[in-house]
Amino acid sequence: TFSNERTREIVSAHSGLEGPLMPILHAVRDAFGHVPEAAVPVIAEELNLSRAEVHGVVTFYHDFNRKPHGRHVVKFCRAEACQSMGCDDLIAHAEKALGVEMGETSADGRVTLEPIFCLGLCACAPSAMVDGEIVGRLDKAAVDLIVAEVDR
Ligand code: FES
Repeated sequence: TFSNERTREIVSAHSGLEGPLMPILHAVRDAFGHVPEAAVPVIAEELNLSRAEVHGVVTFYHDFNRKPHGRHVVKFCRAEACQSMGCDDLIAHAEKALGVEMGETSADGRVTLEPIFCLGLCACAPSAMVDGEIVGRLDKAAVDLIVAEVDR
């Protein structure tokens, strides 16, 4: 299971390397079976990178995230601007409406709900990405539309 301490150990074991991020992600994946979302801020902090940078690399090399995805993928931004605009309430609303928890895929393989760290749409927070399309200024009604969309 994931632990901050184990993640920090892995980071410090590799931090002397040039370009330590990839070897660290490999080691984290080997330790936990995938790269847990909770490891991203720990790695970012230890390496003095932004979360968005680390997250970008993790998503780009998506074999780091070996959990299978649903037919639809909804990613809610959980970074600062979206937090301050109440994304947590919207996420709770989406989890309930979809019957899926953050980081999980529904049992029928219909939808995956994932957190993401800043979509670069902070001015239109709270934002999300629905099947690769970025949507901003979300409210509960907008989330209901997303839910209806991925319900098909
Ligand atoms: Fe959510 Fe930037 S913090 S888009």
